[in-house]
Amino acid sequence: MQTRLTDLFPLNTPIVLAPMALASGGALAAACAEAGALGLVGGGYGDLAWTRAQYTLACELAASAENLARLGCGFITWKLDEEASALDWLLAQPHRPSAVMLSFGDPLPYAQRIKATGARLICQVQRLEQVPQALEAGADVLVAQGAEAGGHGMNALNGRATLSFVPELADWLAAHSPDTLLLAAGGIADGRGLAAARVLGADGALIGSRLWATQESLAPAGAKTQALATSGDGTARSSVFDILRRKNWPVPYDFRAIRNPLHQQWEGRLDELSQQPAAARSDYDAGVAAGDFTRAHATVGEAVGLVRDIPAAGELIQRITAEAADLLKKMGSSP
Ligand SMILES: Cc1cc2nc3c(=O)[nH]c(=O)nc-3n(C[C@H](O)[C@H](O)[C@H](O)COP(=O)(O)O)c2cc1C
Repeated sequence: MQTRLTDLFPLNTPIVLAPMALASGGALAAACAEAGALGLVGGGYGDLAWTRAQYTLACELAASAENLARLGCGFITWKLDEEASALDWLLAQPHRPSAVMLSFGDPLPYAQRIKATGARLICQVQRLEQVPQALEAGADVLVAQGAEAGGHGMNALNGRATLSFVPELADWLAAHSPDTLLLAAGGIADGRGLAAARVLGADGALIGSRLWATQESLAPAGAKTQALATSGDGTARSSVFDILRRKNWPVPYDFRAIRNPLHQQWEGRLDELSQQPAAARSDYDAGVAAGDFTRAHATVGEAVGLVRDIPAAGELIQRITAEAADLLKKMGSSP
């Protein structure tokens, strides 16, 4: 499948591994690159030791120059405002990342430094009104993230659905910034989703939850097992797990994960949880220590309902790409 995205890096398939904090490690990013996709290491909250270890591993495993050119890293922007040593380290590496993705905050303070290394800047947005800020920063690629997505995104008051957000942004870019590429994110887990992203006007798809459920992902085995048994009805957005994890996320962002019993216990009592979190946090911490996912969180979005196996990432990417190409061909469009 050839698109403007596959030409830009270059890739063999218009799929980008989402930079999932603590899940998109070096092995997963390298496996995606090997399969022809763009592999973004999940720099997340900007932990220097973790980012250094996982990005270095990705470069070691990627081996060929072709695969190295398909590696990059993502960060949570508001956290960089507090501590940017992992980004500083990344940009000083002999093998510079091909792309840096910033989400959840103003990319402008970091954009010039990133682009000066030759890396492409990818900015994830959740609403149309965020787009001018990302373009002002010089984003080469925008990711339109729908609220179906796993992990952080906009809360219920502000979130958009992938199906209507992507074509609206595609039209907006065609009119105002036609050279900026667009990726769809949120709920894309198979060839149908990738084909839909193309039909909606995106140059490709950023995939999180489905690639989280692979052999190379660093997600805990117990979380993957729970995901296999969970339908798309079984996730929810809220700030419950952010409060339990002591993560100080700014409004209007919250978090989609499996709606486990501990989540259900607190989802209707957020004020109480915020004011007196100690007992619930101990319960959560004990769940994490025991690998008990009735209390610990498993970070996936609505696409979890389409997760039926835990394959190797390369095999999954080939499967999604072949299915999408076939569907687009049958529909009479060019893949
Ligand atoms: C486990 C997990 C961790 C995530 N961590 C991050 C992150 O650190 N930074 C980020 O920009 N997005 C993060 N995301 C969101 C993804 O970038 C992406 O928007 C989302 O996964 C797309 O929806 P999907 O999960 O339905 O594929 C995360 C998603 C998941 C599932």
